[in-house]
Order: sequence, then C-alpha cells, then structure tokens
Amino acid sequence: MAKKGFVRQLRSRRVSPEPHLKEHASEIQQYGTVLHMVPLDLEEPARLEMTEQLNQLLADTMTLRDLYKKAHWQIAGPTFYQLHLLFDKHFDEQVELVDTIAERIQILGGVSIAMAHDVARTTGIERPPRGREEPSAQISRLLDAHHIIISETRRMARLASRLGDDGTNDLLVSDVLRTNEMHVWFISAHLVDVPLAATRSSRIAA
Ligand SMILES: [Fe+2]
Repeated sequence: MAKKGFVRQLRSRRVSPEPHLKEHASEIQQYGTVLHMVPLDLEEPARLEMTEQLNQLLADTMTLRDLYKKAHWQIAGPTFYQLHLLFDKHFDEQVELVDTIAERIQILGGVSIAMAHDVARTTGIERPPRGREEPSAQISRLLDAHHIIISETRRMARLASRLGDDGTNDLLVSDVLRTNEMHVWFISAHLVDVPLAATRSSRIAA
C-alpha cells in the first residue's frame, strides 16, 4: 500500500514544460522581523533596531529619488537644460543609494520596504503637488527632503556605532551622508541671486 502511494507521488511530480502560473504561498519572512541565524557577530536585537531605522531611511531616500525625477521632467525656465541634467544625475545617484540601503537591510537579516504604497505610508517627506512648480520651489522642496535625510543619517550612524554595527555606520557616513551633502551643495547654489555678467557695485556705479 505504502509503495503504491509512493509511486503515485513520483508520477505526480513528473517534469512538465508547462509554466506554473498564478502560484500562491504564504510569506517566508514577515516585514519587521530579522532572521535568527546570521553569522555576522551582531546580536538579533541590534539587527532588528538597525533594520527598522534603515527602512525609514530607505522610504525617505526612495521619495527623494522620485522627487528628483519629478523635478527633471517638470523643470521650466532659462536654466532648464542644466537643471534637467543635474536633477537626473542626482536621481541616478539616489537610485544607487536606494539599492545599497535595501541590500544592507537584507544583509542584516531583515526585510526591505519596496512598494510605493508602503513607501508613501512610511516616509517623513511632505507629499508634493501633482502639478509643476517653479525651479526655486522645486529646489527648496528637494533641500527640505535632503535635510530630513541628512539629520536622520547622522543620528542612525551614531546609533549603529553604539550598537557595534560598523558596516552600517560606514555605509551611512561614506555613502548616504557624503552623497546627500554633495547634492545639497550643488542644488542650493542655484538659489543664490547673483548677476551673471557684472558685479552689483559696478551696475550701481553705472
Ligand atoms: Fe530623462
């Protein structure tokens, strides 16, 4: 009897070229948890704390990434060309940060946030209007987002260091902080009101 059942089971597992469509299964790991067995010499509570913090940073970085693409598409005015290119360069660099942060969460045994609905519910960055804004308003909005990310990155880097998570500390300081500081420098310079071809004093004297 047992042998017949085994043969039936083997037949039912026969290899087929047909794709298995619409497969469903329960999650293999829930969001907000970390794996128990990760040979990183980092205690589970430390990894849990850091993955929670990194998911907040990930949601904010994904939002800033998308703000840059929105600005890239919707920019108008005499500085269109240079800002169009600059916004896309920063978008590409934020894309790299998103991947680096998400994979750090997975390395620590956690689950990275991924989808737009979850990002929208998690981010601390204010939602922009759907319509177009002037360049100065676009840049101010981007600078506000950078400010949120930079201050949480500094706080998280100190926490990672306290918890002994040197890898996350390095990622936060070397990648996230440095990139965001550079972006702030490049875009904030566009909000300085200086004449292009003559100093103010020479114009007043004339
Ligand atoms: Fe483009």
